[in-house]
Amino acid sequence: MKGIILAGGLGTRLSPLTRITNKHLLPIYNKPMIYYPIETLINAGITDIMVVTGGNYAGDFLRLLGNGKEFGLKHMNYTYQEGEGGIADALSLAEYFAEGEKICVVLGDNIIERNIIKAVRDFEKQKEGAKILLKEVPDPERFGVAYMQEGRIVEIVEKPKKPRSNLAVIGIYMYDERVFDIIKTLKPSDRGELEITDVNNAYIREGKMTWEMLKGWWTDAGTFESLLRANLLVSQTGANNVDPEDRA
Ligand code: DAU
Repeated sequence: MKGIILAGGLGTRLSPLTRITNKHLLPIYNKPMIYYPIETLINAGITDIMVVTGGNYAGDFLRLLGNGKEFGLKHMNYTYQEGEGGIADALSLAEYFAEGEKICVVLGDNIIERNIIKAVRDFEKQKEGAKILLKEVPDPERFGVAYMQEGRIVEIVEKPKKPRSNLAVIGIYMYDERVFDIIKTLKPSDRGELEITDVNNAYIREGKMTWEMLKGWWTDAGTFESLLRANLLVSQTGANNVDPEDRA
């Protein structure tokens, strides 16, 4: 499986912090934000990684990460998203890199306490389709929210004003090679973006979406509140922890 980290977008919600740097290079406790999704993939055994970046400071990713030596990697792949066309638009740029393999996509501002080793292994065995991870949250209106019936996800609604569940869809997604064809059929949403939620709903309609609950805490870091929360959580417990139980 190949790994793709989406670190494009302009991070305007964090201005002025993002006026002279990219959001994903801001510190989370003792490391730049982008280190955490990279570790998430490597922990799960995924070492063929592409970073999709964008904006005015894309070159700084190369200066910071190089070929990923610090993470034990031999090579790192990069591509550049022009503008802010949405998460699915950023993902579409990785089609050439994926070369028909299954992919694991991690949003560049998503940080987890533990790991996704089991979910990745399960998805390797899954014949086709997609897999997402869910987490109960107190503020579902900030996220894609999953609605369930009899153990299956029937729909995901992006940032609903009145959420009917507290199950957030976290920013870690696994797809088969069909994801790129699905993205080509999408139309921009009201906020002018190609939405990852529309990709996930396409798999749900086909009955090819599986899901797992994430163990441990999860946070994004794209607002001042969540950036502070991410710093506090990482300083308290560390991120991307692997217990012997997770390896079994
Ligand atoms: O954090 C999980 C949530 O992420 C999901 O629950 C939502 O369904 C999903 O839409 C997304 O919500 P946000 O509105 O919070 O995403 P945001 O625009 O903050 O983008 C998250 C990351 O995606 C960002 O750190 C970099 C990447 N991205 C985003 C956009 C808009 C890109 O690479 N390119 C883009 O154009």
